[in-house]
Amino acid sequence: MLRIAVLGCGRIGQMHAANVARHPRAELAMVYDVYAPAAAKVAQSLGVIAAESAEAVFADAAVDAVLIATATPTHADYIEMAIAAGKAVLCEKPIDLNLARVTACAAKIGNTTIPIQLGFNRRYDPGHSAARAAMLAGDIGDLHQVIITSRDPAIPPRAYLEAAGGLFRDMTIHDFDLARFMLGEEPTEVFAMGGALIDPALGAELNEVDSAMFILRTASGKQCHINNSRTAVYGYDQRVELMGSNGMIISDNRKPHEMRRYGAKAVECSEPYQFFFLERYNEAFMAEIDGFVDCVEQGAKPLASFDDGRRALILAEAAYLSMKERRLVQVSEVKA
Ligand SMILES: NC(=O)c1ccc[n+]([C@@H]2O[C@H](COP(=O)([O-])OP(=O)(O)OC[C@H]3O[C@@H](n4cnc5c(N)ncnc54)[C@H](O)[C@@H]3O)[C@@H](O)[C@H]2O)c1
Repeated sequence: MLRIAVLGCGRIGQMHAANVARHPRAELAMVYDVYAPAAAKVAQSLGVIAAESAEAVFADAAVDAVLIATATPTHADYIEMAIAAGKAVLCEKPIDLNLARVTACAAKIGNTTIPIQLGFNRRYDPGHSAARAAMLAGDIGDLHQVIITSRDPAIPPRAYLEAAGGLFRDMTIHDFDLARFMLGEEPTEVFAMGGALIDPALGAELNEVDSAMFILRTASGKQCHINNSRTAVYGYDQRVELMGSNGMIISDNRKPHEMRRYGAKAVECSEPYQFFFLERYNEAFMAEIDGFVDCVEQGAKPLASFDDGRRALILAEAAYLSMKERRLVQVSEVKA
């Protein structure tokens, strides 16, 4: 059993702690949150202790690994502390909002052999991974285009947006990673366009966008289009389309169930899509822990690595440069 401590007992940390607790090959060793009542609540509901400090978690011999689900600005520090303490890491995205900080973190942890996995949960989604496996098996011939639709159900509160670090680093980072995962090669060119269409005040007050489109191209010419919105009233819209020389593959949206209504004005009406990431990627989050246990116990390579986290952030920076200067940007223009 891999003894995992969960750091951060907020929105996603609570889910991770519960997933670790019910995972057949993992054990929830303890939880920690700087806001003690949050940790106490999770600790009590799952029957584990709440650590007094992060240092206490890293120093505890009963902890093999940590799952970092704290606020983004703490991730890089906690990765460094975990590696120094010899604990394997599963860290939520993004590593940091600042590329220089990610580069410094990479330098500090050096060529560690201790496993570090990034929380790019979409790589573990059964539909997305089946689509990729079929594509790699040659089902659609040569891959030409990847189309990623990624729309959140509702725009988050203003306080969240103020701290999130911008749509591209906070939200699109998942799509940049998925693009790389599906394309199988590095995008070398990026064009980005964004606007505050849902809440125009966002643009004026936070210099933030809530709707965006991206075009990416790899050195061999493969194309990718990413489409983001912070508000899709019909639910969490998560689709991936792979277009090849010999066909197309779609990994589609999920509904809570398959009931459909038929009436005089419309037919085949069903429920909105699953609301958000906790529901839509439920299986993916569990599979992510499965993959992490394999990394630590069997030496498997993480499906989403620290370097994947760094490269996705580089694409986000290239996209910001493109939007700002209204031009196609070479990814090599981004200096790490
Ligand atoms: N993979 C995904 O789809 C996904 C979805 C949501 C969030 N996330 C990521 O997960 C992280 C947490 O997001 P959230 O939505 O759960 O946020 P949240 O604000 O709900 O929870 C964050 C928790 O971290 C705690 N915290 C802050 N600083 C800390 C510190 N120094 N030590 C210990 N605890 C600390 C806070 O008290 C809070 O309880 C973010 O980095 C976010 O980007 C990933």
